[in-house]
Amino acid sequence: MSSSSTCRYSYDEYKKTADWLLDQTKQRPTVAIICGSGLGGLADLLEDKEVFPYADIPLFPTSTVPGHAGQLVFGKMQGRACVCMQGRFHFYEGYDIQKVTYPVRVFFMLGVKTLIVTNAAGGLNGSYCVGDIMLIKDHINMPGFAGQNPLCGHNDERFGTRFPCMSDAYDRDMRALAKQIAEEQGCGGFLREGVYCMLAGPTYETIAECRLLQTLGADAVGMSTVPEVVVARHCGLNVLGVSLITNMAVMDYESTVKANHAEVLETTRHRTHDLERLVSNLITKI
Ligand SMILES: *[C@@H]1O[C@H](CO)[C@@H](O)[C@H](O)[C@H]1NC(C)=O
Repeated sequence: MSSSSTCRYSYDEYKKTADWLLDQTKQRPTVAIICGSGLGGLADLLEDKEVFPYADIPLFPTSTVPGHAGQLVFGKMQGRACVCMQGRFHFYEGYDIQKVTYPVRVFFMLGVKTLIVTNAAGGLNGSYCVGDIMLIKDHINMPGFAGQNPLCGHNDERFGTRFPCMSDAYDRDMRALAKQIAEEQGCGGFLREGVYCMLAGPTYETIAECRLLQTLGADAVGMSTVPEVVVARHCGLNVLGVSLITNMAVMDYESTVKANHAEVLETTRHRTHDLERLVSNLITKI
């Protein structure tokens, strides 16, 4: 892994990737969607699809997790030009944090204005249920506390300012719109709004850690999303974040429940359809 004290990639490297894509496709997406664990089906809703496996894209990282396909899909979601990341990169895979967020700056250079990020998360808030859909209203950047912030190092002003604001990271208007659409499509009963806390993973949380995070005000916990959102906000993209609550964090020492990736993938299959509809209906209205 490279040192985070220097800039991992130059402006020209992001540009090389973006220019290659702009050369390969005539599509000019204004919305980018990052699909979380088991949520790659969003890309299948696109029409006029053009698919680029990550391995074919110059300088693009590649994914190693089961349930993550590893391709960039361009297409139209109900008429609107989108680009979908089917499979994202995680810090726990061993990528440095700038590599995890590499695609976001490429999206920016493609002309994308809005980033929609989805993930599978563990519920911490006692009023949540497995299968709930949580709009992210704020985050806790735990790896950032430990110096793993993708914006560490030299700041290139062509992307954004040295000290970007994060108090408005998750666009209020898009959240309001998402709530309205969820009501209209009958998902209001299991739609929540809360704080997402990112941990580096790959271990799931201990009981003591879950209790700690709950005390800190986190409603859900996961191993992604925050680095991408930080980089997106830095370069001025509007962000909507959505978590599918795929398991409830274990809070009780008497419990015999154990977190596991198979459970996460199983639950996502059930509510995936609702979440996909929510995102695609939202895209037509932003
Ligand atoms: C849990 O979520 C509900 C909304 O669903 C919220 O009103 C409540 O404040 C949250 N609880 C905690 C402890 O944050």
